[in-house]
Amino acid sequence: MLRLLKVRHFRCFEAFESEFSPGLNFILGPNARGKTSLLEAACILLRLQSPRVSKMTSVIQQSRRGFALDGYFEARHLQFYFSKERKKLALDEVEQKSAQQYLQIGRVVYFSNSDIEIVRGGGDVRRRFLDFVAAQREPGYRTALRAYEKALRSRNLLLKAPSPRWREIEAFEEPLMVAGNQVARMRGDLLKEMQTPVNEAHAAISGARESLRLEYLPGSGADFAEALKAAREDDSRLRQTSVGPHRDEMGFYLNDLSSDLASEGQQRTVVLALKLGAAQLLKAHFGTAPLLLLDDIFGELDPARRNALLAALPNDSQKVITTTHLDWMTDAPASAIIRLS
Ligand SMILES: Nc1ncnc2c1ncn2[C@@H]1O[C@H](COP(=O)(O)OP(=O)(O)OP(=O)(O)O)[C@@H](O)[C@H]1O
Ligand SMILES: [Mg+2]
Repeated sequence: MLRLLKVRHFRCFEAFESEFSPGLNFILGPNARGKTSLLEAACILLRLQSPRVSKMTSVIQQSRRGFALDGYFEARHLQFYFSKERKKLALDEVEQKSAQQYLQIGRVVYFSNSDIEIVRGGGDVRRRFLDFVAAQREPGYRTALRAYEKALRSRNLLLKAPSPRWREIEAFEEPLMVAGNQVARMRGDLLKEMQTPVNEAHAAISGARESLRLEYLPGSGADFAEALKAAREDDSRLRQTSVGPHRDEMGFYLNDLSSDLASEGQQRTVVLALKLGAAQLLKAHFGTAPLLLLDDIFGELDPARRNALLAALPNDSQKVITTTHLDWMTDAPASAIIRLS
């Protein structure tokens, strides 16, 4: 469990610190007091990744150079400093050159109201979701993804030349294919492993009315090398790489009907099942339940549904939940309340 979180120069916070309890924790306060920001800070401290933005610079408090996060996950001391010029990581007061060991400490599943974009939004939202879980499940995932993105940038740069020199481009394709195939394999494996826990979570929330099937649709086709060759003409014309894992997609099917066609309530149930399924997968994989960070997901539900959802959350994981009100809770379980006023 996350025991302590200290933030400095982070979003609206000059400095703030808070302790957390096992089980249920609420962050309570009116709008714009920094509830979401605190959850985001917990996520960045453990996963070095914001659930809200891809550029870390936007979380630095305005007119500051950088932010610092500091906290304890179980007995492990995590510290992260970030500025435009410099990043610094420490684990148990020992500075870390790579994030590999640091990222083994805490695992997280983040829930927010914008999760519905995983079903409704573009492929980039789905890939981000997949990447967030995959990086936790397999330590090598982040390295492979970085290597792929780097090789892709190089290839795209060469394609931007007035007349692309294919011999030169070809020389760059080997690392692209090696890393791309690794990413694709790990994403495919992850989706296969998620199928059962996601379907179980979906059955639990929807009352087993429909089955939910996940499908991985690789952007590199069945054979990445072949797909790259076949796409040459397109790539010269578009001046960018048109095939590969950066075009991966995933499909969700409710009783074989694509989730684009599902109702709003069905779509919300699908994303909830994806998140709960991911939590179950991480628990099965590592033997300990991940930290659940839930950002105001009760906002749109009536009190009965709020209490039902609360009861459906796995009871062996630590949960931090932001909310503006608590008067809807019927039987308040032992919980800690962090008030932002
Ligand atoms: N980089 C930043 N520097 C300074 N302030 C920021 C920065 N980013 C966001 N803020 C401010 O932080 C405040 C808190 O935002 P946050 O989203 O955490 O609020 P919240 O308590 O979750 O509100 P709500 O209940 O509306 O969701 C907002 O007023 C926002 O404008
Ligand atoms: Mg908020």
